[in-house]
Amino acid sequence: MKADEIRTVAVIGAGTMGAGIAGEFARAGYDVRLLDKNEELVQRGMAMLRMAQEALIAARRITRRNAASALKRVETFTALEEACSGVQLLVEAVPEDLSLKQATFAQCDNLCPRRAILATNTSGLSITKIASATKRPGRCVGVHFWNPPHVMPLVEVTKGEKTSTATAKTLMVVSRRLGKRPILVRRDVPGFVGNRLQFAVMREALHILSEDIASAEDIDTAMRAGPGLRWGVIGPLRTADLGGLDIFHAISEYLFPELNSDSKPSPLLSRLVREGRLGAKSGMGFYQYRAKHFDESIRHRDDVLLRLLKVLNERESRKGQGT
Ligand SMILES: NC(=O)c1ccc[n+]([C@@H]2O[C@H](COP(=O)([O-])OP(=O)(O)OC[C@H]3O[C@@H](n4cnc5c(N)ncnc54)[C@H](O)[C@@H]3O)[C@@H](O)[C@H]2O)c1
Repeated sequence: MKADEIRTVAVIGAGTMGAGIAGEFARAGYDVRLLDKNEELVQRGMAMLRMAQEALIAARRITRRNAASALKRVETFTALEEACSGVQLLVEAVPEDLSLKQATFAQCDNLCPRRAILATNTSGLSITKIASATKRPGRCVGVHFWNPPHVMPLVEVTKGEKTSTATAKTLMVVSRRLGKRPILVRRDVPGFVGNRLQFAVMREALHILSEDIASAEDIDTAMRAGPGLRWGVIGPLRTADLGGLDIFHAISEYLFPELNSDSKPSPLLSRLVREGRLGAKSGMGFYQYRAKHFDESIRHRDDVLLRLLKVLNERESRKGQGT
């Protein structure tokens, strides 16, 4: 299936990710079928989808007219057979449970047209195992949107063992048409690329905190004012190139033996979870939150990210024009 042949996309699961992903496809002009287990869940998904468009309008990324025409392209479903009929692409966004994803893929395999591509938004389960529940593993692929989909540009297109190169290529092209910045993950490894990078940093941040080397606030500041800021512009490998690979090599020699290499979650993190300190949603994590602060913190994060992205995108497009 070529990218140009794709017109109708089914999104299975209208939760946080499914609703957001449906909005991204609809804004790019695709006809979208959003499905969940019952009408109430589908309507909750539509409310999330509308909220995402409102945030984009507020950030002047789209007009109210763009949002209205996108919403017109989204149809809601509760019967899988109807949602799958005649689609060219299906994106599964049901909860992160291998047997549920395999069962969903097996059903969709029976109901979707033979040539349709089945994509999974899994955060890290094996694409190969999910695809093994179907008779079309060559046309199954991972397509990992980052949360929130209306803000985050990264999409990880991951090949399972049997995913055809053509299928992966189609998803790369389609993701670009959504205005995303897709990367190709050539091998089906846990955590793909983004989460491997994120959790390597997380492990060290927790280690620094446990060893009382710095406070939570100062660790966050170090990242936001230091490497995090630079990585948002040029990434870690180009950072090393610009700094000099000999310097990075010399530092690696003495620093790598000092870094944390535990293969289990940090004892500090395990204790916080045991105590019910789950972060903003429970009012307490590394920081304290008041009930209304949860939504406020997320709105603030998304608002700043959208403004930052505007600047970064302008820079990218100037680079594209050779300036
Ligand atoms: N939340 C995140 O930050 C995030 C980020 C990237 C990827 N993901 C991945 O995206 C997927 C979905 O995560 P989420 O956060 O949107 O979960 P969620 O719980 O918000 O949404 C899942 C939705 O799927 C529906 N569902 C359950 N079984 C179903 C079925 N058999 N048929 C149709 N719908 C069904 C649920 O009713 C629910 O609305 C997971 O694989 C998750 O790992 C999540």
